[in-house]
Amino acid sequence: MPTLLQVTSIHPDAQARLNKSYELLHAELPNIDADWLAQNAKAVDGIVTGGHLGVPNPLMIALPNLKVIGINGVGFDKVDLDLARSQGVRVANTPDVLTDDVADLAVGLTFALLRRLPQSDAYLRAGRWLSGDVPLATKVSGKRIGIFGLGRIGRATARRFAGFTDRICAAASASTRRIVGTAVFDALGPSGVLVNVARGSIVDEPALVAALQAGRLGGAALDVFEDEPNVPAALCAMENVVLTPHIASATNETRRAMGDLMIDNFDAFFASKPMPTALV
Ligand code: 8YV
Repeated sequence: MPTLLQVTSIHPDAQARLNKSYELLHAELPNIDADWLAQNAKAVDGIVTGGHLGVPNPLMIALPNLKVIGINGVGFDKVDLDLARSQGVRVANTPDVLTDDVADLAVGLTFALLRRLPQSDAYLRAGRWLSGDVPLATKVSGKRIGIFGLGRIGRATARRFAGFTDRICAAASASTRRIVGTAVFDALGPSGVLVNVARGSIVDEPALVAALQAGRLGGAALDVFEDEPNVPAALCAMENVVLTPHIASATNETRRAMGDLMIDNFDAFFASKPMPTALV
C-alpha cells in the first residue's frame, strides 16, 4: 500500500475510501518539524492537501520519495507547480465538481449583503420587529455586476446572475496578489459592493477595510481572507459586511465528489493510468 501524508480533513465517505487503499500519516501544517521528518519523510509517497493549504516548498523538498500531490480543491495557488515539475512530482486538483457550489454562494452572498438577510434575521430574533420595521435594503435585480476572472466559476456565476440583470460586464484576468484594491473600490463607489469567493490574497484587505470604514465602498461579502482562519476584527465589527468561513464548496454533495475525484487521481497514478485531472 502506498503511504500518503494527509494534512487536511476530507468528506467522511472519501476518508473511508482512502483508508482502504492507503497507509495514512496525519500531520498538521505548518507544524511538520525536523523530528517528524526524520521519522517519516522517507515513507511518504503522496500528500493529501486542501486548496487553502497546499504544500509548502520546504516540505515538498524534504520528502525524498514524494511522487504525487492530491489537492482536495480546485485552487492550486499554494502548490508550486514549477517546483513539483522539477522534482518529478505529479499534482492533481478537483475542478468542475465544485463550480456550482461556489457560484451558488457568490449569488447567495450578494443577496445576503444587499438584502441584509443576516441583519434581518438578527432583528427578528431580537424581538425588534414588534416595535417597528427593519431598515430598507438594496434591490439586487437590475444591478450591474462585474466578475473578476471568467474561468469555470466566473462563467457559472455570470449564468446565474443573468436571471437578475442583463448588464453583466465581466473581466477575465489572471489573479494577482492584492490586485483588487483601492482603484477597484473607488470605481465601485459608496453604492457598490465587493463579493469574494475566490482567494483572500486577490484583495488588498487593509485597503478594503479602509474603504469600508471611510464609506468609499458600500459593503462587502467575503468567504475568503488573506490570513485564514484569522479575520480582521475591523471587518467583524462592520454592519455592511457579510462574512462566511470559506464555505463555498462546503456541501455534503460537493465535498464527497471532491474527495472521490482526488482519490480517483491517486488510484490512477499508483496504477500507472492517466490521472483524470492532473495539473502536472
Ligand atoms: C476548500 C478551496 O477550501 O477548492 C478550493 O480551492 O479553496 C475550497 O474548496 C478546500 O480546498 C477544501 O479542502
